[in-house]
Amino acid sequence: MDFVVLLHIFVFAPILFCITFLSLPLPSPTYFLAWKSQLSQPVADLVLRNGVIYTSDDSLPFADSMAVANGRVLCVGNRSFVQEFEGYGTQVLDLGGKVVVPGFIDSHVHFIDGGLQMMQVKLRGVNKKEEFIRRIKDAAQSTKQGSWILGGGWNNDLWGGDLPAASWINDVTPNNPVWLSRVDGHMGLANSVALTLAGITNLTDDPRGGTILRTANGEPTGVLIDSARTLVTSQIPEDSVDDRREALHRASNLALTRGVTTVVDMGRYYPGFSTELSWDDFSDVYQWANSMSKMKIRVCLFFSMETWSRLVGVINRVGHALSEWIYIGGVKAFADGSLGSNSALLYEPYVDDPDNYGLQVTELEALLNMTTESDLNGLQVAIHAIGDKANDLILDMYGLVASTNGMRDRRFRIEHAQQLAAGTPGRFGKQRVVASMQYKQCPSLDL
Ligand SMILES: *[C@@H]1O[C@H](CO)[C@@H](O)[C@H](O)[C@H]1NC(C)=O
Ligand SMILES: *[C@@H]1O[C@H](CO)[C@@H](O)[C@H](O)[C@H]1NC(C)=O
Ligand SMILES: *[C@@H]1O[C@H](CO)[C@@H](O)[C@H](O)[C@H]1NC(C)=O
Repeated sequence: MDFVVLLHIFVFAPILFCITFLSLPLPSPTYFLAWKSQLSQPVADLVLRNGVIYTSDDSLPFADSMAVANGRVLCVGNRSFVQEFEGYGTQVLDLGGKVVVPGFIDSHVHFIDGGLQMMQVKLRGVNKKEEFIRRIKDAAQSTKQGSWILGGGWNNDLWGGDLPAASWINDVTPNNPVWLSRVDGHMGLANSVALTLAGITNLTDDPRGGTILRTANGEPTGVLIDSARTLVTSQIPEDSVDDRREALHRASNLALTRGVTTVVDMGRYYPGFSTELSWDDFSDVYQWANSMSKMKIRVCLFFSMETWSRLVGVINRVGHALSEWIYIGGVKAFADGSLGSNSALLYEPYVDDPDNYGLQVTELEALLNMTTESDLNGLQVAIHAIGDKANDLILDMYGLVASTNGMRDRRFRIEHAQQLAAGTPGRFGKQRVVASMQYKQCPSLDL
């Protein structure tokens, strides 16, 4: 990747004349030309030269130079042509042959959560039990007694598959509740302090749509799956507004350093969690950042499908685009859990868990109702489905809604579409459903 320079150019279209020309009343063409040659070109803030610039424009697919002013491309072309836009204060960057591409769009992120995780214990990539424990021990040393230690990103497949247990970390965290999410977000590990705070004992029943993992003699191990996570997460104090604003800042910076200039944010909505968190972020974080001119990245926002009518109300009042930074996208729901948490809904049971076919996390009837209503109101619908059975159920349901509501360019999405039965991939094409896949859901990658 080191030969690639990723630049954050927001609109990558050659705009040859500055807006100033366009906003002036147009005098006669001859006067215009004379005036233009006299005053010369608009001045670029930044000129890139000696690069391999991919333009996405068939008439000039690659160029070696580009001029930019006020975050917009002024022109793309050869060096002598672009040089005319240089003037007082222009920064000139010699790329030495490096590659420039338009900004990337990530079509499925949980942006504020991602930023909040950047402020927590990082367990991504940890491949030894000892290292897992060491990072928690370090965090405990810098955390006040009684405060929560939060972290995430662990993946038991990296150390041979054994799930972690509260017993790993109880000794190093005697005075702090701990909650550590798995990399897929569908399970987490609590220590004993947290289990006690949550009131989870040998006698606690599994909640609907979730599992409390237990040892052979019935004692909770500390691992909680899907909706069982809320037993613990409901005890964690809400993230403050300041923390969430800081999270947007950190996540935006990270995205920009990777060349990502737009994200589709699925929000902080997961099965069993409040539908309000995404709405809180909308007002406290996004609308605030927008009004304070603090947005650095373009976002397209999705909200829980349960709140579709509220979203329709907002769109009726202000439209889809709040500004050039914030676009209201559509609604999101969940059909099942995840493969890594053995909660993706499958036709056949898990090899390591022969009675388990996964979890259907939302009633089909409710999904059908909400999808029909959302679609009738022009909202784009995205539903998370990972297991083969979940994908077929949603494709069936999408087919039903499309035939009820009639033809339109609705672009139903299935998020992840990970584990498909033979014959299912073709259904996506036939029904024009977007298979919204992410590399993290590709099991052959070591993640
Ligand atoms: C540079 O680009 C300009 C504008 O497209 C063109 O007129 C000119 O011939 C080009 N010069 C060279 C050396 O290719
Ligand atoms: C839970 O079960 C374990 C194993 O049988 C036992 O050691 C422990 O005392 C039990 N805890 C409670 C609170 O009953
Ligand atoms: C969805 O459910 C609501 C409440 O029960 C009902 O009023 C509405 O007609 C249903 N919509 C559809 C499309 O079935």
